[in-house]
Amino acid sequence: MCGIVGYLGSGSAVPVLVSELRSLEYRGYDSAGLAVIEDGNLRILKAAGKLSNLEHILKEQAPIATVGIGHTRWATHGEPTDRNAHPHTDEAKVVAVVHNGIIENYRELKDELLKKDYKFGSDTDTEVVAHLVSYYYKQNKDMLNAVRQAVSRLQGIYALAILSPAYPDRIFAVNHHYSLTVGLGENESFLASDGLAVRPYTNQLLRLEQSEIVELSSSGYKLYSFEGKEVKRSPITSEGSLYIIDKGGYKHFLLKEINEQPTVLRQTLAKYLPDTHKPVNLKKENKGLVNGLHTAGITLTKEQIKNIDRIQIVACGTALYSGMVGKYIIEALAQIPTEVEIASEIRGRKLLVNERTLTIAVSQSGETADTLAAIKEAKEAGSHTLGITNRPDSHLAHITTDLITTECGIEVSVASTKTYIAQLASFYLLGIYLAEEKGLLSPQKSAELKHQLHLIPTWQEKILSSSEDIRQAALKYSSAKDVVFMGRGFNYPTALEGALKLKELTYIHASGYAAGELKHGPIAVLDENVPVVTILVPGVVYEKTLSNALESKARQAKMIAVAVEDDKNVDSIFDTIMRIPTVDEFLSPLLTVIPLQLFAYFTAEALGKDVDQPRNLAKSVTVE
Ligand code: AGP
Repeated sequence: MCGIVGYLGSGSAVPVLVSELRSLEYRGYDSAGLAVIEDGNLRILKAAGKLSNLEHILKEQAPIATVGIGHTRWATHGEPTDRNAHPHTDEAKVVAVVHNGIIENYRELKDELLKKDYKFGSDTDTEVVAHLVSYYYKQNKDMLNAVRQAVSRLQGIYALAILSPAYPDRIFAVNHHYSLTVGLGENESFLASDGLAVRPYTNQLLRLEQSEIVELSSSGYKLYSFEGKEVKRSPITSEGSLYIIDKGGYKHFLLKEINEQPTVLRQTLAKYLPDTHKPVNLKKENKGLVNGLHTAGITLTKEQIKNIDRIQIVACGTALYSGMVGKYIIEALAQIPTEVEIASEIRGRKLLVNERTLTIAVSQSGETADTLAAIKEAKEAGSHTLGITNRPDSHLAHITTDLITTECGIEVSVASTKTYIAQLASFYLLGIYLAEEKGLLSPQKSAELKHQLHLIPTWQEKILSSSEDIRQAALKYSSAKDVVFMGRGFNYPTALEGALKLKELTYIHASGYAAGELKHGPIAVLDENVPVVTILVPGVVYEKTLSNALESKARQAKMIAVAVEDDKNVDSIFDTIMRIPTVDEFLSPLLTVIPLQLFAYFTAEALGKDVDQPRNLAKSVTVE
């Protein structure tokens, strides 16, 4: 995904644009650029790489301007180079465009424009939009109409901001199934892909709905449908607290967010589980929009729950792995058959869901295109839908019938950590709620489970206090070229998540397996150069997992364990042991992942990797 920003007012545009881009760097950082109107002309400054590269250019040649648009890029079409960096313009520099999303029919449009002798300077789909708007503007000298005619030709999901020296006091922006927020200040207006970027300047926010065009001026805005009909809608006053993007003394956001997990878990439990002796009551106080944000909770009635004959969970990446744990939780507590689907694998398939299916979409950002597409299909097929997200102002929050919002604050680091723990907590709470409503959980068992949940944050803190031991362990294996992670049952997803963390933070190839699967082929990769990380927790799969570890050891693999503190069996088998407090297998995923997060972090730090913004990644992938 990319980040779009804009400013228009009496102040200097460049500092505001840069500050807004800084807030959106999590959306992609392959290049950054901005377009301003200076002395009546369009001025474009852009650079491949991080925002700091653009800032370096701006130090040398800061334009004087009071209106501009900006962009931070995650490359989809065209390599991350200067020439492909946004903004893009037409040849005559009548129009500058920044773009988020994909223009699916850009090749057809590009061919049409090439036949009209238009010249292209980049490999991007975005540049097509600049030429198309310019083409229509030449015909009717009305920018709003030109924008409307151009977007009527576009296919795909996208958001755009457009600037023209012909309209030095206007910014035109388009939202088509994406996200764009307008901020309205005193004689100044702001624009950003994410409201958190404009919130430091104003709390008067207007979120563009699907297929809308806004004409921004310093005195306000006009909203239009794609058909050209004016839309009347007032901004909302955002009560959301200002999120100060600050490392809080930690070297990296990632380390800060790993250490925030006990607090995040306490906050999520406190919100949904205020008192261990009261039933988990996730019913909403008031469903619907409050200050533009969905209140959180579930409206599934006892009858509806009784009528659910299966659950389907759809997600990507780390969210997918939390959903896999969620499957084990829900089946164990509520005895509802639950499947987990990779959201991108649902595309093009007929979803066999109906009104007796509960489809749960898990997404930290609430903007992941694959996940949104999957949940929309499920909803169209009649399924009841539930979202679990960290962003109550996201698309996902607007689409699903019910919503559990996690209480993590903004997760800045691209690699998900604290939101994973909060997603797990949401599944434990949901599982308890469903089981209670189905009469499958006695008050005594329910109270005991809730009490155990409330103890977890303290146990997490105990693990975090042994971070130095884990750092020492990580340093021993930082030269590995391939690492295997394995676990069974509740900790099979933990193995997958541990492998993903190591891959995305260190670029070391790592694979996660169900421990029982290793002997069916993957064990062939093992030798003295391959560390094997085994997650061992006392419970029904402990013995078999230990056997799988011994099979690996017999192939000379370097043996690393995540094991409970009073497990003595592991001492003679493993070269390295990362200890966690003794915990019931059922709740262990809330603990076993933490040593693996720290293992990946310290390895990446030792290797000098870009911990908070790993190469090729973006915080949320809003393209399919
Ligand atoms: C996890 O560390 C990655 N950042 C990635 O796998 C992420 O979990 C995935 O892209 C899903 O994002 P979402 O939770 O915002 O939908």
